[in-house]
Amino acid sequence: MSVVLIGMMGAGKTTVGKQAARALGYRFADLDEIIEETVGRSISEVFARDGETAFREMETTALEDLAGTARLVLSTGGGTPLRPGNLDLLRRIGAVIYLEASEGLLSERLSHGRKGRPLLADSPISETVRELLTQRSPVYEKADFSLRVDDHSLMDVVAEVKFIAERMS
Ligand code: S3P
Repeated sequence: MSVVLIGMMGAGKTTVGKQAARALGYRFADLDEIIEETVGRSISEVFARDGETAFREMETTALEDLAGTARLVLSTGGGTPLRPGNLDLLRRIGAVIYLEASEGLLSERLSHGRKGRPLLADSPISETVRELLTQRSPVYEKADFSLRVDDHSLMDVVAEVKFIAERMS
């Protein structure tokens, strides 16, 4: 059984994913990193040179390659589940868990984390977060499980992910 983490930029998918993988003894993979390694360019360069549509196609291709991988914790990009068909691909990889963070927490975290995130390039963070959350929440909420991030320690969230993975296997 594998586990897939979805949610907004800044929700902690990579940090939680790495620690959950270690706790479970599973492999960890980050979809952005897979793409960067495959194309030999950073996500910012991909957005600048190839454009967002090409980036979204790269995400889908990478997900297709991961289908059926056992004992994996996969952290996705914030926009990954939005493309039609991707949610089904994510489900083919494993149990889909939404790391749900409030607009306030995301804005706070992302004000220090613009680097490498082209969608945040020059816009006011809180407006972008609000717009993206409004647009994306209905899709994120289709996940098999939701874990609230606000007011929970990293350790607690990691333990919840581990619990879900063990229960599913
Ligand atoms: C994106 C989130 C990023 C990355 C890209 C687009 C998004 O990943 O995939 O910049 O659309 O929200 P993180 O969620 O890991 O920051």
